[in-house]
Amino acid sequence: MPRAGTSVARAEPAEAGPLPKHVAIIMDGNGRWAAARGLPRVAGHRAGAQAVRRTIEAAIRAGVPWLTLYAFSSENWRRPATEVLDLTGLLRHYLRNEVTELAQEGVRLRFIGELTRFPPDIQTELTRAEQVTAANTRLNLVIALSYGARGEIVEGARRIAEAARAGTLDPATLSEEGFGATLLTAGIPDPDLILRTSGELRLSNFLLWQAAYAELVFLDVLWPDFGETQFAAALAEFARRERRFGARPG
Ligand code: IPE
Ligand code: IPE
Ligand code: MG
Repeated sequence: MPRAGTSVARAEPAEAGPLPKHVAIIMDGNGRWAAARGLPRVAGHRAGAQAVRRTIEAAIRAGVPWLTLYAFSSENWRRPATEVLDLTGLLRHYLRNEVTELAQEGVRLRFIGELTRFPPDIQTELTRAEQVTAANTRLNLVIALSYGARGEIVEGARRIAEAARAGTLDPATLSEEGFGATLLTAGIPDPDLILRTSGELRLSNFLLWQAAYAELVFLDVLWPDFGETQFAAALAEFARRERRFGARPG
């Protein structure tokens, strides 16, 4: 029987193999989900927010300690102004209505991306959400907002160049760990599993540095249809993978 491959993961229990410490998800397919129903794209984004809720619960139940969700890319600002407005409106609604419950469930929130591109009231909510959940330990939830990996890497390089110019860093001593610490994900373990929904087979500028040895799983399901079953299937697929990190197999 062929392996599950990259596009389909079978729904099997994941108990047999290792559990990823960090699952990162490219939540794609909201627009196509809405179009298939003759609905406006915003309806797909609304349904996508429900899938976020289910996924957080699934991660908690599975015992995955780190979950990163790619909610909005730095390139998504190029979408029509009406859609950008719908998405920022939904984000505002989500922050105002869901953070209290997430806090009670033991979720620690952290946001990565060019957060200053959002309206000031959203930035205030983002800071508040991080503050009120800072002591939680059950699930570390990272939400990537206006995030782009190339921009993140260039910003890290800029900070290193400035430190070198200021004489506080000797370029000869720069290590991979040192470079990684300049990124937005400083202190966050690299993802073991990167999952993308909607059938697209690309990373779309997501965690390019951090993805070096991530296992990639691509599911045909559209994001609003994603839930515990698909999460479990992805964990099962991860458990079947043999990770080598460049070393000899076996
Ligand atoms: C993902 O769904 C949500 C965001 C990127 C903000 P899309 O809006 O990309 O949906 P498709 O890919 O057009 O179906
Ligand atoms: C990637 O989806 C970004 C998010 C899921 C937030 P896109 O729909 O923006 O990616 P492309 O345009 O298909 O590469
Ligand atoms: Mg898309």
